[in-house]
Amino acid sequence: MLRVLVCVSGGGTNLQALIDSIADGRIRNACIVRVISSSPEAYGIERANKAGIEAVTVAPRDYRDKGEGAFDRAFLAAIDEAAPDLIVLAGFLTRVPETVTKKYANRIINIHPSLIPSFCGKGYYGLKVHEAALQRGVKITGATVHFVDEGMDTGPIILQKAVAVEPGDTPQILQRRVMEQAEWEILPKAVDLIANGGI
Ligand code: GRF
Repeated sequence: MLRVLVCVSGGGTNLQALIDSIADGRIRNACIVRVISSSPEAYGIERANKAGIEAVTVAPRDYRDKGEGAFDRAFLAAIDEAAPDLIVLAGFLTRVPETVTKKYANRIINIHPSLIPSFCGKGYYGLKVHEAALQRGVKITGATVHFVDEGMDTGPIILQKAVAVEPGDTPQILQRRVMEQAEWEILPKAVDLIANGGI
């Protein structure tokens, strides 16, 4: 049974997709052992609670005056306590400390709402990704699941799925379509592959 830890910062719709996929068998041989949120207000915490999954908040703002590296140490400790086999960044907006990417090398994956290498890296997160895609005028966008390394959205790509950009799309409409048609499908698929020796 693959022990999965999920990190969230906001709505948690990708966490919900994982919870639902484990419940309906799309993800086999895996269980979510803990959710870590970088914000106490994240709705992802509610989703975890409703699913009976332990949720803890490790918020960077709570460690600002606690000295260099205090957040990094608290975040690593919260991960280690859960003894995960796989860490999933699902709408997680905080930079993962190098201590974590090194200790959990090749065991951290992230969902990014574009077809990497387009519209990724520093400053490309959430709606900003879709604003940039619409600004550039691409006709196809999508989502990417990739391994997390020390860089930003630079690790090996695991799965991608393309999504059409429609005339009249706003960033919000496009984000929703990318979530529904790509993110919520390929993130569970990637976890199932990893849990069953597919990667
Ligand atoms: C969304 O923009 C999603 O594309 C990205 O993070 C944001 C929030 O996702 N992965 P979630 O609803 O919190 O899973």
